[in-house]
Amino acid sequence: MRKSVSLFCFWSIYCCFAAGSHTPMGPEGQLEDEPHKSKEVQDATKPSVRFNLRTSKDPEHEGCYLSLGHNRVLEDCGFNMTAKTFFIIHGWTMSGILENWLHKLVSALQMREKDANVVVVDWLPLAHQLYTDAVNNTRVVGHNVARMLDWLQGEDDFSLGNVHLIGYSLGAHVAGYAGNFVKGTVGRITGLDPAGPMFEGADINKRLSPDDADFVDVLHTYTRSFGLSIGIQMPVGHIDIYPNGGDFQPGCGFNDVLGSIAYGTITEVVKCEHERAVHLFVDSLVNQDKPSFAFQCTDSNRFKKGICLSCRKNRCNSIGYNVKKMRNKRNTKMYLKTRAGMPFRVYHYQMKVHIFSYKNKGELQPTFYVTLYGTNADSQILPLEVVEQIELNATNTFLVYTEEDLGDLLKIKLTWERTSQSWYSLWKELRSYLSQPSNPSRELHIRRIRVKSGETQRKLTFCAEDPENTSISPGQELWFHKCREGWRMKNETSPTVELA
Ligand SMILES: *[C@@H]1O[C@H](CO)[C@@H](O)[C@H](O)[C@H]1NC(C)=O
Ligand SMILES: *[C@@H]1O[C@H](CO)[C@@H](O)[C@H](O)[C@H]1NC(C)=O
Ligand SMILES: *[C@@H]1O[C@H](CO)[C@@H](O)[C@H](O)[C@H]1NC(C)=O
Ligand SMILES: *[C@@H]1O[C@H](CO)[C@@H](O)[C@H](O)[C@H]1NC(C)=O
Ligand SMILES: *[C@@H]1O[C@H](CO)[C@@H](O)[C@H](O)[C@H]1NC(C)=O
Repeated sequence: MRKSVSLFCFWSIYCCFAAGSHTPMGPEGQLEDEPHKSKEVQDATKPSVRFNLRTSKDPEHEGCYLSLGHNRVLEDCGFNMTAKTFFIIHGWTMSGILENWLHKLVSALQMREKDANVVVVDWLPLAHQLYTDAVNNTRVVGHNVARMLDWLQGEDDFSLGNVHLIGYSLGAHVAGYAGNFVKGTVGRITGLDPAGPMFEGADINKRLSPDDADFVDVLHTYTRSFGLSIGIQMPVGHIDIYPNGGDFQPGCGFNDVLGSIAYGTITEVVKCEHERAVHLFVDSLVNQDKPSFAFQCTDSNRFKKGICLSCRKNRCNSIGYNVKKMRNKRNTKMYLKTRAGMPFRVYHYQMKVHIFSYKNKGELQPTFYVTLYGTNADSQILPLEVVEQIELNATNTFLVYTEEDLGDLLKIKLTWERTSQSWYSLWKELRSYLSQPSNPSRELHIRRIRVKSGETQRKLTFCAEDPENTSISPGQELWFHKCREGWRMKNETSPTVELA
């Protein structure tokens, strides 16, 4: 029952999205003057937007409700005027209750910033609506948040620069409106997978944008370039980070699309990927000693090819709470890989491999794997993932990543899998075999592998163990060791040597 209801909701957002792309945001949204005059909610005792100051570590504890003009509450509840203030803003809700992630985020913030004021913006009555209506309500809620901040600004010692709004999904756009309406500039807004439907491509005044705060950082975890994108695809902050390309998140099971449909767990997959942004942020708060790094890149495919692992000129940054403030004129898009669960950090490596083919022309597409041996640990067998295709007689760049810290790399084993892992690569192999059936020596030559660690920025070159034997064929392996000092000898003048 629950599943069919949520599946229905899923499709109804889809329909809203399909039908509602031209729906206007609505004129001047009705703005509440006093919380008790709220027209949104019939129940006059309970305002439709409530500000719950979390005063205890116990999630069951009621906390304090802030209300405009009631200064006593601030004192009685121990609101610290000089400390940081976080506003956590939830999104559209199908259940009508505050979800579990919110309690996790609250306690992670309390743990990390002991003095901070953590305020939950509860707009459940306005969020538990048809998606289109909830979208329309974001403006009103943003206005409420702005008025709360303006009132706080009237207090001595309160500084808008210490305010950090954290909005999930629709809540990210609420934060955008709040930052836009408040008198002055809030310190920071973090958008956690800001909602996509009805916001993609919208004017900057109708969605989260870099001008809504001194610093706006965004995590995108559920974006799709076709079909329904629950999260917004376009960059909307100063820094927009797309973990795992911003689409398929490890551990969320979308790789098994047919399985998910068969078991009716589509909505769980959607929730898993959309909510991943929150858990990455929580991870950055609680696992400060295991920071994840993201790397600037123009698009996801270039990142997957391993081209973008540079830290020069601020091209890399930590993600989540620890992100370094960077305000470029243009949006900065950044990428990283993650693990499937907390701590999400992985170690990225760029591998540059020059692949020679003396005997074969054309079609040969090898399936290579590497195993990295380090001072701390050895990696698993890692695929050299091919984004487009392998160029022969050219340098190919690959991205590999490990969950463990290997320490300093010592050697690399390169293997060419004979047995293909997937139907697609089996087909490719068959095709290349058919195109050269008479050629018994499907042989390639690799002399060196150049490796750069994203995390340490160290570069190392590995040379074939036996310089006389650099050939590899399907089913074979080739070992590479750290090149001896001065490997780049003058007399190494084969025409195919390239120095990059
Ligand atoms: C948006 O909400 C306001 C009230 O807040 C209402 O007057 C208006 O009709 C709504 N617009 C749409 C398009 O639903
Ligand atoms: C309020 O916050 C400031 C800054 O974080 C801190 O130094 C101070 O001790 C806090 N005051 C109280 C009463 O907790
Ligand atoms: C690579 O270069 C060699 C000569 O350096 C040539 O014989 C061979 O055909 C080339 N291979 C491809 C695939 O172009
Ligand atoms: C080169 O190495 C491969 C794999 O290690 C081996 O099978 C082959 O016999 C070697 N060839 C020569 C000429 O040593
Ligand atoms: C390169 O030079 C070194 C010493 O200078 C020599 O031992 C080696 O044989 C030379 N290699 C080639 C391919 O000429």
